[in-house]
Amino acid sequence: EIAQVSDMLIDSHGRRHNYLRISLTERCNLRCNYCMPAKGVELTPNSELLSQNEIVRIASTFVHGGVDKIRLTGGEPSIRKDIEEICEQLRSLPGLKYLAMTSNGIVLSRKLPRLQAAGLNQLNISLDSLVPAKFELLTRRKGHNKVLESIDTALGLGFDPVKVNTVVIRGVNDDEILDFVELTRDKPINVRFIEFMPFDGNVWKSKKLVSYMEMMDKIKQKYPSIYRKKDHSTDTAKNFQVEGFQGTVSFITSMTQHFCSGCNRLRLMADGNLKVCLFGPSEVSLRDAIRSGMQESELQQVISDAVKRKKAAHAGMFELARTQNRPMVHIGG
Ligand code: GTP
Ligand code: 5AD
Ligand code: SF4
Repeated sequence: EIAQVSDMLIDSHGRRHNYLRISLTERCNLRCNYCMPAKGVELTPNSELLSQNEIVRIASTFVHGGVDKIRLTGGEPSIRKDIEEICEQLRSLPGLKYLAMTSNGIVLSRKLPRLQAAGLNQLNISLDSLVPAKFELLTRRKGHNKVLESIDTALGLGFDPVKVNTVVIRGVNDDEILDFVELTRDKPINVRFIEFMPFDGNVWKSKKLVSYMEMMDKIKQKYPSIYRKKDHSTDTAKNFQVEGFQGTVSFITSMTQHFCSGCNRLRLMADGNLKVCLFGPSEVSLRDAIRSGMQESELQQVISDAVKRKKAAHAGMFELARTQNRPMVHIGG
C-alpha cells in the first residue's frame, strides 16, 4: 500500500516520505571504525541539541503530515536517560504505527522490556562479528556478549522480526558471512548484510567493499536452496531465505544497486537539522525554525521546501567517497 502523506512530504520526484529517522544523540558507547572517525568527533554543545519537547514537537508536525514510522537512531539511542519518555510521547502521536530503534545492543537488554511497554515495536541490532576478539577490534570496546544477550532478549519479548545489521568489510569480517547465514537456521532473526558506505572519517576504499553479488555467490555455493522473498518497494533490503531455515537473510545494496527510487526516508539530526538524503549535503535547521517562534504552518513550509530539494538518487559510490558529508555517528544510518 502507498502511504497517505500530505504535499509537504512529497518530493519533486513523486516520492512519499512516511518514515522519519530521528538521531537522539551524537554520543555512542562503541567506537566502530566504519562509523566513528579514529580521532573521535566534535560534539554539538547541549544548548544546540534538541530537547525532548522539541523532538516531540517536530516529530508531531511530521506525523500530522503523514509520517507513520519513526526510527530512533544515534549515536546510540538507548543511552539517552529520557529514552523511555521519548518513546511514550512519540507513541502517543495519533497516526504513528511503527516506533522503531536501531541499537548496538550494548545496554539494551535490561531496558528493552520497558521500551517495549513504552511503545517500541520494531528493533534492529547491529552486530558485525561473531568472534569476540574481532568485535573488540572493530568497535574498540568490549561487550560482544551483551549484544548477543540483547538479541535473545528481543526474541524472547516477541520482537518479530529481530533484524541484525552486519556491515561487511573486506579483510575484516567477510570470512564470517556463512557463519551469519548459519545463525538463521534455528533463530527467527533477519540477518542483513550491508554494503560498506563512505562517510567522513571512515577511510572507505572501494576494495574494502564486498558487493551484494559477491556475497550472494559465496552464499549460494553453500546454500543453493536460498530463494528471494517479496520485499516492499520502500525497503532498504533485498530479502532471501534458505529453504527450511527459521530466519531470513537480506542485503542492503546501497553502493552497487541503490534503492533511491523507492526512498521514503527523512532524517532529523540531534542538532535539529533536517537531512533529506543520507548522502546529500543539503540540510536545514528545524531547531532554529521553532526557536524563532514559528507556528506549525510555517514549519511545514520549511520542511516542504527542503523535501522538494531532494535529489532523485545519490551520486554513486566514487563520487560519494569524494564528497563531504557528516560522520556516520552523527547521521545514525
Ligand atoms: P527497516 O526500517 O527495518 O527497514 O530499517 P532500515 O534499513 O531503514 O534502517 P537501519 O537503521 O537498520 O539501517 C540499515 C542500513 O541501511 C544502514 O547501513 C543504513 O545506513 C542503511 N540505510 C537506511 N536508510 C537508508 C537510506 O535511505 N538510504 C541508503 N542508501 N541507506 C539507508
Ligand atoms: N556503511 C554501511 N552501514 C553503516 N552503518 C554504520 N556505518 C556504516 C557504513 N559506513 C550501519 C550500522 C547500523 C546502521 C544504522 O548503519 O551498522 O546498523
Ligand atoms: Fe534515499 Fe538518499 Fe538513501 Fe537514496 S541515498 S535511498 S535518496 S536517503
